[in-house]
Amino acid sequence: MLDENSKNWQESDINVDSLWLIGERDKSGKHRNLYHGNFIPQIPDQLLRRYTRENDVVIDLFAGSGTTLFECEKLRRRFIGFDLNLEIIDFVNSQMRGAATKYFLHNGDVVNQENTAARVAESLAAFDRQSADFLIAHPPYLDIVKFTDLPEDLSQIADIKIFLPKFMQALANALPFLARNKYFAVVIGDVYKKSEVVPLGFYVMDAIKRRFKVKLKGVVVKNIEGNRGKLGQQNIWKYRALHSDYFIFKHEYIFVFKKEE
Ligand SMILES: C[S@@+](CC[C@H](N)C(=O)[O-])C[C@H]1O[C@@H](n2cnc3c(N)ncnc32)[C@H](O)[C@@H]1O
Repeated sequence: MLDENSKNWQESDINVDSLWLIGERDKSGKHRNLYHGNFIPQIPDQLLRRYTRENDVVIDLFAGSGTTLFECEKLRRRFIGFDLNLEIIDFVNSQMRGAATKYFLHNGDVVNQENTAARVAESLAAFDRQSADFLIAHPPYLDIVKFTDLPEDLSQIADIKIFLPKFMQALANALPFLARNKYFAVVIGDVYKKSEVVPLGFYVMDAIKRRFKVKLKGVVVKNIEGNRGKLGQQNIWKYRALHSDYFIFKHEYIFVFKKEE
C-alpha cells in the first residue's frame, strides 16, 4: 500500500477503480497461458502490489499453473500454495527450478482441515513467520472447467449447495493463518445452470460475510476479454445468444476483504 507520504502516487498504475478493463493478458516472463481456467497475471500483480510488500508471505489456495507464484517471484514475495493437480504442480516446479524465490507448493486438498493447517503452519515456520500477509483464492467455478478426476476436486461439483460449504471450509482452514487487518481476495465468476444464471460470485461473497469477521473492501468487476484468445468462437456464442434469451458472460469478480480478527 502507498504510504501517506508517498510523493509519486499520481504516477501509480495501481488500479483503484471497481471496473478493470484489461486489454491483453500479460505473457511476459514465465506466464504461458497453458492452463485452461487460469487467471490473467494482472490480477495477482495488481493485488500484490497494492496489499503486500517485499518479502511478505502470500497464501494461494488454488495455485493452478502458478500465476500468483510467478508474480510473487517478480515482486519478491514469499509464497505458500496448494493444488490437487499433481501434473500442474510438477509443471510449476519445473518452471521455478533455480529461482531464488522462497516458496512451498503443496499437493493437497484445501478442504481437508488437518492437512491444510499443518502444511501452512510448517511453511510459515520455515519462513520464520507466524502468519501470512495476504491470501488469494481462485477456486473452480463449479464444474464449468474440470481440472482433475479426483473426488476432492471442487470442479467435480455441479451443485452450489455442495460447493459453497466446501469452499467456505477451505477458507476457514487457511484464514486463521492470515494476520489480523490483512487482506484476502477471491476471484470468481458466475455460471449458467439449467437455463438460468447461478450468481456464484454473489453467493460466495455473501457466505464469506456471514461466516467470517471481515470487511468487504472491494467488488471489482473485471472483463474476461483478455482471457479469451479464440476470437472466432465469439461469433458462435453471439449467434447462439441472439437466437436464445441469455447474455454472454464478459466479466468476473474480484472480492477484496480485510480480516478483522
Ligand atoms: C480456477 S483454477 C486456479 C488457476 C490459477 N489461479 C492459475 O492462474 O493457474 C482452480 C484450481 O483449483 C484446483 N483445485 C480444485 N479443487 C481443489 C481442492 N479441493 N484442493 C486444492 N486444489 C483444488 C484445481 O486443480 C485448479 O488448478
